[in-house]
Amino acid sequence: MKKIGILTSGGDAPGMNAAIRAITKAAMHYGIEAVGIRDGFEGLMNGRFINMKYTDVDNIIQRGGTILGSARCPEFKDPEARKSAVAHVKEAGIDGLIVIGGDGSFRGANVLAKEVDIPVIGLPGTIDNDLYGTEATIGYDTALNTIVEAVDKIRDTATSHKRVFFVEVMGRDSGFLALNSAIASGAESVLIPETITDIVAIANQIKSQNKGRRSSIIIVAEGDEEGGAMDIMRKIKPHLEDFKLRTTILGHIQRGGSPSYYDRALATRSGIMAVELLMAGVTEKMVGIKADELITVDFKDAIEKKAMPKIEREELLLKLLTK
Ligand code: F6P
Repeated sequence: MKKIGILTSGGDAPGMNAAIRAITKAAMHYGIEAVGIRDGFEGLMNGRFINMKYTDVDNIIQRGGTILGSARCPEFKDPEARKSAVAHVKEAGIDGLIVIGGDGSFRGANVLAKEVDIPVIGLPGTIDNDLYGTEATIGYDTALNTIVEAVDKIRDTATSHKRVFFVEVMGRDSGFLALNSAIASGAESVLIPETITDIVAIANQIKSQNKGRRSSIIIVAEGDEEGGAMDIMRKIKPHLEDFKLRTTILGHIQRGGSPSYYDRALATRSGIMAVELLMAGVTEKMVGIKADELITVDFKDAIEKKAMPKIEREELLLKLLTK
């Protein structure tokens, strides 16, 4: 192995820079050149490469976002468009590739690996934690902390004004962020895509909980079957006429900020492992974590199987918290 390409793709996630740093430093440690690819697969198709030096990755472990840039690149699904990516990889002499991103990025990486005929390894970088086979993705912990901090603030004003807040969080079609932020912020209820949402039941729950309470916080996953927080508030309003209802959509604030200890450590450990896997000729695998041990997961499984939050246990926990 002489030259490793690194790209970040899809929605950025806190900890991506820590991963870029670890990969660059590990590669150099093993006498391998590291090449940064700008803006994900878009940069791969256009040959926008930078030779990485130690100084490029100094003081980035604490920074959110990605110094390489990221993009969603639907064009990469087109085999014709991918041909230019393959040509640029060959021309640059890249003989191993590390893709940091979510399931869409791994889909691209999986087809590319076959066409370009070099080993490709993935690092799960997404706040959504929706990749099968790993207990955590890089960025998830930081996003959870951001949500909890925001909900604590909303709680202050909600309690002052005796209000019910519907707080919408990201996660696409997955409820990890919603469920676990609800537990950690002591929310009164949570709506996630993995369970059936019953508007009338939630209204009744709010009414019965609210006796003697000054506020209620309902965390709404953006992908809930009944819609986002605005839709839920509109649908529930007729059932809660005596209540003062408000909505907050946390939005992209959840993607930014300095990564937590956990995300920095996970990104650093898995970045080093990714380099070592490439050196061993391993391909089409994602580096995951289980019981604090790094593991590998086939791209195929990570892409095709659905990661599920542990609903049964967490639901009970929520019930106990909100009684
Ligand atoms: O996948 C990360 C994520 O933040 C999702 O939670 C969200 O649905 C989506 O990206 C938003 O994407 P964009 O920034 O392209 O609007």
